[in-house]
Amino acid sequence: MLDRALLEELLAEVRLAPSVHNIQPTRWRLVNEDTLLLVEATMRRLPAADPSGHDVRLSHGAAIEGLSLALGRRGLRIAEVEPVGEPGASGGLQPVARIAIAAGGQADGLADFVSARASWRGGFRPFDQPGEAALSMFSALAGDVQLVRDTDSIDAIARLADEAGLHFLCDDAHRAELLHWMRLSRSDPSYERDGLSAEAMAMSGVVAFGTRFVLGPLFPLLRRLGLAATLASERGKFANSALALFHRPEGEDPLVTGRAFYRAWLAMTAQGLAACPVSVLADRPASNRQLIERHGVPKGRRLVNVFRLGLAAGAPAAVRARLPVAELIV
Ligand SMILES: Cc1cc2nc3c(=O)[nH]c(=O)nc-3n(C[C@H](O)[C@H](O)[C@H](O)COP(=O)(O)O)c2cc1C
Repeated sequence: MLDRALLEELLAEVRLAPSVHNIQPTRWRLVNEDTLLLVEATMRRLPAADPSGHDVRLSHGAAIEGLSLALGRRGLRIAEVEPVGEPGASGGLQPVARIAIAAGGQADGLADFVSARASWRGGFRPFDQPGEAALSMFSALAGDVQLVRDTDSIDAIARLADEAGLHFLCDDAHRAELLHWMRLSRSDPSYERDGLSAEAMAMSGVVAFGTRFVLGPLFPLLRRLGLAATLASERGKFANSALALFHRPEGEDPLVTGRAFYRAWLAMTAQGLAACPVSVLADRPASNRQLIERHGVPKGRRLVNVFRLGLAAGAPAAVRARLPVAELIV
């Protein structure tokens, strides 16, 4: 069933799955013709932003869903995902899950949106009638989402996101790690490989140039002058957007959560809605708690992330930074 050529074909689609900071931590080993081993590239962890490894594991989950969608198009399916429990890292690679592949897969409609889905970090235009219909359709179909529409609540959540964002940025290690994954100039050799390019972050050249200093050596001074909050604010990006609070069962393995996360995002794309996670809202316990209480996240569910979504006021970035398929096979 599986061989190297088919695996390469599959991974060309799988690698389009989202990953936190676009670190692309997932590697694949062909064990035999019906088994793959999902392996983590341990050099690509985020000790400051993701100390528990939750978001890296969720990113692996998204990659597993990407594999499932790619297999379905070829009449194949994932028969079983068996997490590998014991720590056994060697050579910078840590086995995460053994994946059994079987015949009998079916094409899934969401697979058609894998190449169109991308993080949208630009502005939104107001919802028109078709946009409203798309949002209603998404909300009716998506089981794990609580939509927030009223502008007062959205503005309050935007302020909460700024507070949470600034809280994390005030940590030196966090800022350094973020800068490490930012690709602020096209001359960066990794601009088209991984990380967050200026274009993907919807930054102009001037802003990208300044970001190096604002998040780097100037940050402590800007903070003392009370300017850091204004410079880091993303409040404007919430204008004309809706918010989708994405929740999943408490205690769920992030490997499973990641599959649902990717499907929810693809379902937004399928409705023509542009979206981007705002992780700081879920990552900071105080804002996570507040959102659960104020916006009716059902009991027994945890708030995994918050998506800003709506009608993109512009075109998507031309470059999707991704590692070559050959590097993903170990
Ligand atoms: C767990 C997780 C958390 C993320 N959090 C954020 C976030 O807070 N802000 C953001 O702009 N993008 C966030 N992203 C989006 C990634 O940066 C994005 O998927 C990656 O850069 C690849 O780009 P693409 O989505 O356009 O394919 C997150 C993605 C994942 C999987």
